[in-house]
Amino acid sequence: MNGRALIAVVGGGLMGHGIAQVFARAGHAVRVHDALPATLATLDERIRRNLTDLGQDPSAAARVSAHARLTDAVTGADVVFEAGPENLALKQDIFMAIEAAAPPQAILASNTSVIPITQIMARLARGERALGTHWWNPPYLVPLVEVIRTASTADAAVRTMTELLSAAGKTPVTVEKDVPGFVGNRLQHALWREAIALVANGVCDAKTVDTVVKASFGRRLAVLGPLENADLVGTDLTLAIHETVLRDLDRTAGPLPYLRQLVADGKLGMKSGEGFQRWTPEQQAALRARVLGYLKALDEQGI
Ligand SMILES: NC(=O)c1ccc[n+]([C@@H]2O[C@H](COP(=O)([O-])OP(=O)(O)OC[C@H]3O[C@@H](n4cnc5c(N)ncnc54)[C@H](O)[C@@H]3O)[C@@H](O)[C@H]2O)c1
Repeated sequence: MNGRALIAVVGGGLMGHGIAQVFARAGHAVRVHDALPATLATLDERIRRNLTDLGQDPSAAARVSAHARLTDAVTGADVVFEAGPENLALKQDIFMAIEAAAPPQAILASNTSVIPITQIMARLARGERALGTHWWNPPYLVPLVEVIRTASTADAAVRTMTELLSAAGKTPVTVEKDVPGFVGNRLQHALWREAIALVANGVCDAKTVDTVVKASFGRRLAVLGPLENADLVGTDLTLAIHETVLRDLDRTAGPLPYLRQLVADGKLGMKSGEGFQRWTPEQQAALRARVLGYLKALDEQGI
């Protein structure tokens, strides 16, 4: 895909507006469709605010247009990103509507967090141009995008998407098999399951789990991946550690009862004021500011 492309984004919520912002900054025209008029009404303001906060030129937001009808957003598009709710049936319906209106050669991408792309694209007539692009929040600050191929995805579609993302400043990687959760969320939720199990089994409290991660291997994770780390300490030491510890790690198939109980008790995390721990509005704001400030600093350093 040479030069400027016409990008469509279906779903202009948290992820969709950020994805639109990335391509607008890269000089592409971006059309956004959302089912909620109120979401479209704030699209321009949200993108301008992000750009201003980052010290970037807010005029890039002018390349993003809002569309109440999906057809108006995807007609003539070169690439369509879907960022609607995490619901398989809804995503399948959205892709049927996209396929009916977008050009037959347009690349179609879902930003699902964990649902296999093969299932989302199952009803498409032309699955060879369909793939997954798993972005991370916020899309304009976290570099990685996992590009997930299905058994039907054409090499050319993966290549074109990878080039488009690289040119927009992202770090695309190819996921060769369409497994649930892809790479990033499998790793992340393997850690979360063990974290919850440690609390559920009384080994330590939730704050301690988070302190252990943040003050130890979490410090290194941005510059030292787990397999680089294994090579650093030696595969022989890694084997010796695994011989002892792996048999003791949690391997519950499915969500842990402790997590189910939190949800049943209405302890939904920050939105209800309590999850694994209690959160005052001030503590929530401080945490959000800390994460954003950290990501901005890394971005400024080009890390
Ligand atoms: N939030 C994250 O950190 C994150 C990270 C990676 C991937 N994802 C995935 O990205 C997708 C979007 O997540 P989000 O956090 O932006 O959610 P969100 O709720 O902020 O946005 C979803 C948007 O889709 C709109 N919508 C609902 N039905 C629609 C329809 N039929 N047509 C068009 N738009 C419709 C909603 O109005 C809403 O604005 C999900 O699949 C999610 O799992 C989220």
